[in-house]
Amino acid sequence: MQDTNKQSVVPGAIESILSIFDSTPGRKIITGLSGLGLVGFIIGHLAGNLSLFFGKDAFNAYAEKLHSLGPLLYVIELGLLAVFVFHIVFAITVTAQNKAARSRGYAVKGNAGKPSRKSLASQSMIYTGLLLLVFTVVHVWMFKYGPGINQGYVADVHGAPARDLYRLVAESFQNIWIVLGYSSIMVLLGFHIRHGFWSAFQSLGAYHPKYTPLIYAAGILLAVVLAVGFIAMPVYIYAFVKV
Ligand code: HEM
Repeated sequence: MQDTNKQSVVPGAIESILSIFDSTPGRKIITGLSGLGLVGFIIGHLAGNLSLFFGKDAFNAYAEKLHSLGPLLYVIELGLLAVFVFHIVFAITVTAQNKAARSRGYAVKGNAGKPSRKSLASQSMIYTGLLLLVFTVVHVWMFKYGPGINQGYVADVHGAPARDLYRLVAESFQNIWIVLGYSSIMVLLGFHIRHGFWSAFQSLGAYHPKYTPLIYAAGILLAVVLAVGFIAMPVYIYAFVKV
């Protein structure tokens, strides 16, 4: 039920912003935009982590450069957390609304045909998303909040003691189960991003017979590059790096 008193207390502009949060298309747009924001983070994260291939000094120097941002890093991290929360909350809300609508018998069953990309990936977005959430929590706990200088993980970075994050990552990827676990999750990440990318553009109203195939192709390319890039790191370390 709409609150009819809202208009009297909330000025028009604010009300129209709030109405975005209240409508299904608005929620889809927020899910799509926050998802694209997360893709931006993941591309940056992959690019930075590629320094693992250049060895201990390169990776630790990269990590130290990030940490030297100081308070700015906290601001960026808080922003990232906010984007994660928006994405998860709105994705869950949209999925629940879709499910409720389907149970009332509104939805077309089976493949919805073009331009819809209704597929196994689209139907399982909520599950791949929740698995990625669990992965992210475990991952951050493992690396960001894992052992540091006080536990003896110390490296020399440009003549000063710094956290030996390379040793932590390299030690973790000596375990075949961690390598297999990461690799499987990265395949899911690929599927999630491939469908999420298409879906975000659709929610933003970007459908055009000429450009839509390009968006689909870009989604596939992005998914493959991210999945292969992230799988390559644990596999490379397991196969070639001994700590
Ligand atoms: C092989 C793949 C990956 C490796 C080697 C890796 C490595 C790392 C490392 C070493 C950190 C700690 C950074 C620090 O403390 O300075 C970190 C943080 C993080 N990683 Fe990953 N990562 C990988 C994949 C992913 C993926 C796929 C995601 C997202 C789905 C992700 C999300 C994050 C997040 C959110 C943080 C915390 C960032 C922060 O608060 O500063 N990582 N990762």
